[in-house]
Amino acid sequence: MSIDITVQISDDSPLLNIQKIKRLTRWLLNECQVSDHNISILLTDDQKICRLNNQYRGKNKPTNVLSFPFAEGADGSIASLPVKELGDIVISIETALAESILYNQTFHERMSWLLIHGLLHLLGFDHEKSKKERIKMEEHEKILLKKLQFYRSKKMTQLAINVDHVATIRQARGTVEPDPVTAASICELAGAVGIVVHLREDRRHIQDRDIHLLRQTVKTKLNLEMGANKEIIQIALKLKPDLITLVPEKRQELTTEGGLDVLSQKKKIGKVIDKMTKASIPVSIFADPDQDQLTAAHDIGATFVELHTGKYCDVKGEEATEHEFQLIAEAAEHASQLGLRVCAGHGLDYLNTPAIAALDTIEELSIGHAIMARAIFTGLDQAVREMLAIIQRADYSI
Ligand code: PXP
Repeated sequence: MSIDITVQISDDSPLLNIQKIKRLTRWLLNECQVSDHNISILLTDDQKICRLNNQYRGKNKPTNVLSFPFAEGADGSIASLPVKELGDIVISIETALAESILYNQTFHERMSWLLIHGLLHLLGFDHEKSKKERIKMEEHEKILLKKLQFYRSKKMTQLAINVDHVATIRQARGTVEPDPVTAASICELAGAVGIVVHLREDRRHIQDRDIHLLRQTVKTKLNLEMGANKEIIQIALKLKPDLITLVPEKRQELTTEGGLDVLSQKKKIGKVIDKMTKASIPVSIFADPDQDQLTAAHDIGATFVELHTGKYCDVKGEEATEHEFQLIAEAAEHASQLGLRVCAGHGLDYLNTPAIAALDTIEELSIGHAIMARAIFTGLDQAVREMLAIIQRADYSI
């Protein structure tokens, strides 16, 4: 299937993500059984759409969406179009935003509807022709919106929570409290879909007792983060977590400092993946947003990659943050095109998470420190729910 989807945005808006709009359009075209016709989308402002509305429809006022079919087929069907071009859809972001407030919809819902409306026009539907045509078009809009809701609900970004930080506090006193196993249950009850623990060689936080209890009590998914170390590999093979995440591990580091260098140790990491695969344990690789590393992870059989967001979270200044963000967005795109399942984590907090959560190539975020830090003041249940709310809101951006 070859479709060229061109998306142009005339004003830089943080609400918009070109890749996401392209994917949504591709999905819609597929639902409408359009498999080989190109389409162009222009996202613009009221002033520009007003000019087009005046020029082509003689209406000197802004509107929400305009459709310009490239050509008309002899019998009105796509198959009879003389070219493999559907045409152009123009949407005013300004009007879309105003309408989302007016109709009490999210911006994403409004934009999705406008895109569907514009697309149906390109496919020959016309609500202005007659009452019958209006009803027909509205029915199609409703069906597509419903299908889209279902599709998106399956694609919501999930939250897995790292409870190492709870164990760190316990170990500071060498007592039994606070217990990361209790923390894990609270996180799950609040809506987390996974629990992550890093069993380090030096056992500085999570202990063997913790992972064994967690294996019995975690009801969602237990992700064991680990270095490619002989002793820990044996433990993982016996424990059979739902997933392991391979990370580089240095004794002196405060926390994991960077992604795993897969390129320079493909053979060694490949062997660990083979062992885990034989034991039916999927493997994720914690990797920097570097496309060569991700390709290498794919080559040696990883199922998931977790993109290291640490640098994006740590850099100062808008430009540097944007640069790091773009690297993550491109890396996520690359990994997902390779067929890898993509997660992300490290350093994510209540301010820098939305942009990452809005990337629909990323299916799960792994967050620990920020949630535990907030939990000290608000309680763990509340801290998890607040993070989930942020992620869900970001998911509905477009
Ligand atoms: N992912 C990996 C691979 C990690 O090592 C960590 C830190 O333990 C996290 C995610 C979570 O990072 P943070 O605690 O900064 O949210």
